Amino acid sequence: MILDRWEEFQEKDPGNMLAEIEHLPEQLKKAWSLGQDMPLQESRRIRNVVLAGMGGSAIGADLLQAYALSHVPIPIIVWRNYALPAFVGKESLVILSSHSGNTEETLSAFDHALETGAKLIAVTTGGELAVRAKDAGVPLWQFEHVGQPRAAVGYSFGLLLAAISHMGWLPDPVEEVADAVASMKDQQVALGADVPIAQNAAKRVAGQLVGRWPTFIGADFLAPVARRWRTQVSEIAKAVAQFEELPEADHNLVAGVPYPEELIPKMMVIFLKASHYHPRNQLRIDVTREVLMVEGFNTDLFQAQGKSRLAQQWTTLHFGDYVSYYLAMSYGVDPSPVPAIEELKRRIKDLTEGKS
Ligand code: PA5
Repeated sequence: MILDRWEEFQEKDPGNMLAEIEHLPEQLKKAWSLGQDMPLQESRRIRNVVLAGMGGSAIGADLLQAYALSHVPIPIIVWRNYALPAFVGKESLVILSSHSGNTEETLSAFDHALETGAKLIAVTTGGELAVRAKDAGVPLWQFEHVGQPRAAVGYSFGLLLAAISHMGWLPDPVEEVADAVASMKDQQVALGADVPIAQNAAKRVAGQLVGRWPTFIGADFLAPVARRWRTQVSEIAKAVAQFEELPEADHNLVAGVPYPEELIPKMMVIFLKASHYHPRNQLRIDVTREVLMVEGFNTDLFQAQGKSRLAQQWTTLHFGDYVSYYLAMSYGVDPSPVPAIEELKRRIKDLTEGKS
């Protein structure tokens, strides 16, 4: 069984994505403490927050939004596009997040935010975003990370959490951060590459996904984690996947499951469940799973680990990262490079510059 021949992983994983996943708890801890000393904006008179970014740099914003919305007294939205919504103005805080600093949608949002007179913070490792932030005197939250943007999710979340918390909009999450880090570390003992499939739940889930079309379903603060599982399967395992959110999926997805019949045995639906969910969403996870099983879908359930909401969000995310890694190993693909994304960016750039 390939997943138990872990000595061969290194050959398939020259960029050592496995180490990035293993060190995620430490990265989250480091990002949170780095965020304690970063320059801030004056929080009075801020009426809304926009978190702008794409892909691996946007997922931290989704996680933050889902975690913080139940505390923060003003709206927070995640913006994945050019420009900015029309409501952005002098009373907005716009946080631009781009790992490379060179993502055109995020740079467009930066320029737009400057024009509106909004308050800005730029979160990046460097690139054009850092240059523009320095030129405009915008607080620059620069962090060091060599590797793939999606592997820096600890930074893209931890720094935003520090920013929102220092603005005084959140009860101090320091204990939840510590709980998240400790719970991830506890959980990962049984998920390592050297833990055989019989004892390794992440390898078993990856094995169930091989040759199947996965759908990940989460609710509340795990809805962005379902998205993360999907994006990690896309970028790490180079495989198709989708994600859904409850309770919304109960109002449409469950109606569209009988067809095409020949596809159903190929589907695998994984439900993400947490004890911190709204009780009705806990019930919905179980009932929705039953509905899909009756229709012939393969299903499984991951129960979030840890006590606090943050621990449950991050243990579920971390487990999904391991699953996508083991799926990549099963398919024999290199988990680090994303040539399709690079090629698409290059084609868009060439077309803009008039090259064929
Ligand atoms: O994971 C990836 O490589 C992508 O999803 C990138 O994060 C995305 O293209 C945006 O790039 P950046 O994170 O550098 O802004």
